Parts: sequence; C-alpha cells; structure tokens
Amino acid sequence: MNGAAPRLAPRRFSRGRLLAFQGLESLAAALGGRAFYRATCLSAGRLQIREETVHAPGLAAELEGLRILHISDLHAGPFLGAGDLEHAVELGRRFAPDLLVLTGDLITRRAEEAYTLLGDLAQMGARLGKYAVFGNHDYRGRREHEIAARFAEEAGFEFLRDRAVRFGSGPGALALVGLEDLEEAREPDARRARVDVQRGDVEVILCHNPAGAALVVNERTALVLSGHTHGRQINVPLVRRLAPPHPGDRVRVGGATLIVNRGLGALGLPLRVRARAELVGVHLTGRAEVAR
Ligand SMILES: [Fe+2]
Ligand SMILES: [Fe+2]
Repeated sequence: MNGAAPRLAPRRFSRGRLLAFQGLESLAAALGGRAFYRATCLSAGRLQIREETVHAPGLAAELEGLRILHISDLHAGPFLGAGDLEHAVELGRRFAPDLLVLTGDLITRRAEEAYTLLGDLAQMGARLGKYAVFGNHDYRGRREHEIAARFAEEAGFEFLRDRAVRFGSGPGALALVGLEDLEEAREPDARRARVDVQRGDVEVILCHNPAGAALVVNERTALVLSGHTHGRQINVPLVRRLAPPHPGDRVRVGGATLIVNRGLGALGLPLRVRARAELVGVHLTGRAEVAR
C-alpha cells in the first residue's frame, strides 16, 4: 500500500446499478423508511453495544484496560438524520470511552447529509479524544477537507488521513493509525501514515475497508478496526451477495485482531436482517489471560 497504488480495491458496481439503488432508496424513503429504520434498528432494545476484549501484547501499564468506542457506517441521508442517534449517544455515554473512533461512510451521497449528524456526534465524548477516517462514500464530490473541518469544529473529531497519533510514552505507547479508503482515496499510503509511529509502539489501525487489514498489519499491530460491510446488512442467500465480502465480526489477520463493525446506518433499503446495527466497545489489555 503506497503512493504508487492509487486504488487497491476495485469499485464493485456499475453506474447503472448505482442509479437503480438510488431509485430504490428514494422509494423506500418516501414510504417512511427513516422512521421505520429508527424504530427497528436504532431504538432502545434494538441497538446494542458489542463489547470485545482484545489482547495488545506489550501495551504499557498506564494504558491497561483502555476503552475504545468504535462507530461506523452512519450513512446519513434517506434513512438516518438528526436525532436518530439518540440511543447510540446514550449507549456511548454509558460505555464511558477513553477514545471514540469513527471508521467512515458518514454519508450516503452528499456532504450535507453528514452535517445533519453533527449535533448527535457532538454529544459523544471520550477522555482522550475523538478520531475518524473516511469511507468510500465520503469522497463523493471530493469535499473531504470541508467535511473534516466541520467535524473538527462542530463535533470535535480529528480525521487521521494517513496519519497517526500517539498516546502514552516509552515502550508500549499506543499509536492510533488512520488510513485513507482503499477504493476511493487518490493515494492511500500506509508508509506515510506510520511516519510518527515509534519502535515499541502498539498499533491500533483505523481502516474503513476490512480488506485493507491484510495489507497493513505488521508485528506492532494489535488491532484493526473496520466497517464497510454492514455485516452484509440483509444477510440472506442471494441478497447478501450485494454487500461487500464480510470476513466475520471478529477474526485474526496475521498476529492482529480485526474487528469489523456492522455499522449504524443502511444503504438501499432501511432494513437489516441477521446483521444488527451496533456500536463496538473495545477493552484493550496487555494481559493475555484477560483477553479471549
Ligand atoms: Fe457503508
Ligand atoms: Fe463503505
């Protein structure tokens, strides 16, 4: 993954198929899709937080038990808008994260859609900060800089665009590495993203497309947080083929753990079948006996 490879994952759908999706979305929205989605997928009793304990070998004692709240694939637009994350915000507050991370696909089609969620997302807090990467949908219209600026100013998110931030000092410090999207970014560059990572750091990588995990994990990587697949969203035979390949909710890639967040929003239809919307709450531990 470097500057010489501008797109490492091919786009999956033709323009005609994308237009067909758009027509379906418009019809479902006109029939009350947003209220239906909120009631069936985002309300109390439906939306849950999936808690995962992840082994991070060598993690500094000062970071033991670090709590990372991971949200993904909001897809603001026809089926999700202002106020719809009310219960997600409450679940996040109860989890009391040290870090809040967002792994992309903020919008369905236009940057303005993402801005409808700024109020909800501004209410979510984390002791050490809020960080984000873009997903393939977020590059529509090439307004990423504008989105990043508004999310920073109005909701406190810092976008890690092939860039890392470090927490702690000395051996076992945490390097949070954010990558540009594999399909739509012009020049995703993992080497550039790691310029500030130091020997002895423990890496947590934010990478929207889980296919990127195999390209970027190294001996320092404990965890990759992804989204993109929606857990196949409508997870029944034939229909599930429309979704990107879902490697599983939690799998091993090399020596690292890959967690694929099924996301909060929906595409095409305001529906999820055997792929519930979720937030993921990660407990990071340097002690192997604590992790499963
Ligand atoms: Fe998505
Ligand atoms: Fe995506």
